[in-house]
Amino acid sequence: MRALILASAALLAACSAEPDAPATKPSGALQPVSITLPAETAALPATPAGELVTQRCTACHSADMIARQPPLTAEKWQATVTKMREAYHAPITPADEPAIVAALVTLQGAPPPR
Ligand code: HEC
Repeated sequence: MRALILASAALLAACSAEPDAPATKPSGALQPVSITLPAETAALPATPAGELVTQRCTACHSADMIARQPPLTAEKWQATVTKMREAYHAPITPADEPAIVAALVTLQGAPPPR
């Protein structure tokens, strides 16, 4: 028992021995890390359709994510837009949906984002 207590004391002492140890030592403590994300440069076209979709969809998605969806029919886009509104609370009213769906279909013919 005495040996165990001594060993524990030695471990505790080791833990607090070097409070300013360099971060490269594997101390077991979590270290803050900072990362720099690349700026998003892709944008939807500066047309009424592009601006409407940017306004209604890019709070949660990148422009790239919207633009790179496979070509969808108006019915499929309608289902997606309704799902965004109902399931994910996108800031869209049912009355907005026809214009947004039309804009999404229009954008499919546009060149990929810059
Ligand atoms: C309030 C946030 C929010 C807004 C605004 C939003 N979405 Fe989403 N969207 C989500 C979430 C959350 C998912 C699910 C992501 C996952 O499952 O990984 C998603 C998924 C998707 C998907 C993937 C397929 C699917 O059905 O899950 C598509 C396509 C999509 N959104 C398109 C749109 C379009 C187009 C708009 C604009 C009309 C839009 N979203 C607006 C939150 C949002």
